[in-house]
Amino acid sequence: MKRNSLIAVIVAAVVVLIGGLAIYALNQNKSDSMESMSASDMKNMNADQSSGGSKAETAAATNSVTIEDFSFSPKDITVKVGTTVTWTNHDSVEHNVVGDSDDGPNGPLLAKDESYSYTFKKAGSFDYHCSPHPYMKGTVTVTE
Ligand code: CO
Repeated sequence: MKRNSLIAVIVAAVVVLIGGLAIYALNQNKSDSMESMSASDMKNMNADQSSGGSKAETAAATNSVTIEDFSFSPKDITVKVGTTVTWTNHDSVEHNVVGDSDDGPNGPLLAKDESYSYTFKKAGSFDYHCSPHPYMKGTVTVTE
């Protein structure tokens, strides 16, 4: 009987210890995720400010688009009127850059490491795709 109650006390102590550690670990995780959340919130706020807060996803400010792994990267870019945008294909598969509407880029099929350039002379939003792979899509937003 004595030995049994001693074992019961030890088991109870271990359970309390493990419970305390678990609560401590949970609190640590909570504060970690809260910290990372506030950091990304701040990033989002900065991004919203630079894009006028109109888009949740910021369009990259570059005039170079890489074609790789069957996608355009960055997918969405923003340029000023008169900017020449260059697409370079890094896939061994041929891709092209064709505007969804008639006024926009309309390039030939590009072999690996070939490029196509197009100068945007009007403001607006230009959606484009790759004609052999219509699921490959991108947008160039042209601002005044
Ligand atoms: Co393609």
